[in-house]
Parts: sequence; structure tokens; C-alpha cells
Amino acid sequence: MRKAAITGYPLSHSKSPVIHGYWLKKYGLQGEYGVVEVAPETAIDFYENLSRNNLIGCNVTIPNKESAFKAAAQLDDAAKAIGAVNTLWLDENSTLNGSNTDALGFLGNLDQNAPGWDSQSGDNCGKKAVVLGAGGAARAIIWALLQRGFKEIHIINRTAKRAEELADHFGRNIFITLWENREKELHNCQLLVNTTSLGMKGQPNLELSLDNLSKSAVVTDIVYAPLMTDLLKSAQDRGNTVVDGLGMLLHQAVPGFEQWFGVKPEVTAELRQLVIEQMES
Ligand code: ATR
Repeated sequence: MRKAAITGYPLSHSKSPVIHGYWLKKYGLQGEYGVVEVAPETAIDFYENLSRNNLIGCNVTIPNKESAFKAAAQLDDAAKAIGAVNTLWLDENSTLNGSNTDALGFLGNLDQNAPGWDSQSGDNCGKKAVVLGAGGAARAIIWALLQRGFKEIHIINRTAKRAEELADHFGRNIFITLWENREKELHNCQLLVNTTSLGMKGQPNLELSLDNLSKSAVVTDIVYAPLMTDLLKSAQDRGNTVVDGLGMLLHQAVPGFEQWFGVKPEVTAELRQLVIEQMES
């Protein structure tokens, strides 16, 4: 029996077992996806010895993504660029491979729900994106946008130093805008992404007037609780295409499942509904 799991600490709210459990059933595969709490101080040893726990791979979440990065013997381009690993698998030579699938999750979500979002558009919209936030999620998203040829990526973060660190890390095509100037920077951008925790249930709201944003810009949020954040609601009300953050969570799970169980799974409306029901329960 091929067995994978979500690992991290603590793990009470993970949606991953529902997602992978759904796909195992849908494709009629002999496999298992469990939940294994791994304390940060034991994490590197745990990941280096995955097979000791009968695992062929795993997802990695907070606070172990850097430990998984250190434990992996082989890293793909995304993991190297992002500096953190959220998916591990043992290959046919028992080599431990690490990837960061957040970038693919971000791209898969937009490709599915806003086709054409990354093509050069008319009405003065160049390939310019505005990214709010400068944490781990922003790092993955900036790498994803560079892969898709964005020429101007503006990072806007409350703490300017973190934005500067990201800009230094990626170098080309990255610009920094001060948090207090965030509304001015929306001119001519074709994609606006919120990667901060603002707007999440229990967190303060994101204060942002969209008056300067082109109506043809796509707006997305990585927050998915609530599904429709105030940012997405106000963007939708003025006619922008909006994409919620749940799709990123679903799409980032695809590459791991394919590595562990040999089938590239589909993100369907039925899966989305299942996860929404679990969030509500
Ligand atoms: P993740 O790895 O999930 O991206 P993180 O590293 O904690 O999480 O980043 C959270 C982001 O939300 C950061 O950009 C943070 O800004 P700071 O770097 O200034 O901390 C942003 N954030 C959180 N609370 C915020 C607030 N009240 N106002 C503005 N930005 C906030």
C-alpha cells in the first residue's frame, strides 16, 4: 500500500486529507493519505528517514518547510528558487525529492478560473502585477509570475525590509512600493494579488480603494476563509474578474498526488464543494 501524509505541527485544520482522500477514491487507487504531526526539532531526521514511517512521500506545512528543504537530496527549480519545500517523494532510486508546489497551485488556479490572465492585454495594461505581502506565499507567487513573463512585479508590504529582501533574492523585474502608496501603484496593472493575511477570518480587513485599477485587471486573494474576501467582493462589484484562494490550495496538491500515486488528478467542482463543506462544518 502506497502511503503519503500531511506533516507539520499542529495539524488540526488541514484540508489535505479530504483532497487526497477524494482523489484516491475517485481514481480507485490502492493508497492511503494520513496525518502525521512532526515536531520541528525532529523534522529533518523524520524527512530524511521517511520510509521508516512507511511513507513514500508527504506534504509539509508550517513550521517544517525549511527543514524539508534541508532534508531533500534533490530539489526542483521551484523549491530552489523559493527556498522552502511543501512536497516530498522518494523516487525509484529511493532518493528524497523536494518541490514547492505553491507556485504551480497559484498558476493552476488562475489558468482554470481566469483563462488568458497572463497574456498581454490592451488598454495600457502591460505585464505588470502588484503583489501585496512579502512572506513565504509571496515568494512562491513572485517566482510563478516571473515564469509567466511578468516584466514588472511590484511588491507592497507593511514591513519594507521584507520586500527588499525578496527583491534582492529575485533581482530582475522586481520593484518595491511603500505600503502607504499601495493605491497609486494599481495604475496599469493586469494582476492584483493579496498574499497577506488581511481579510482572513479573525484578521483585520485590507484597506484598499480600487479606484485606480483597470476594469480588465484580474484580482486574486490567497485567503480562502472567507471564500469571498472584501477585496474580491469590491473588485467583483466594479466588474473585475476575481479568483478566490481555495483553487490555489486544491491545485497545489496536484503534483504531490501525481508523484505518489501515478495519476495526475483533476481539480473538479465536486472536490471544491467537498472542501467548502468541510470548512463550514
Ligand atoms: P506566509 O508565509 O503565509 O506568506 P507570513 O510570512 O506570516 O505568511 O506573511 C504574512 C504577510 O501578511 C506579511 O507580508 C505581513 O506583513 P509584514 O511582513 O509587515 O509582517 C502581512 N501582514 C500581516 N498582518 C498585517 C497587517 N496588519 N497589515 C499589513 N500587512 C500585514
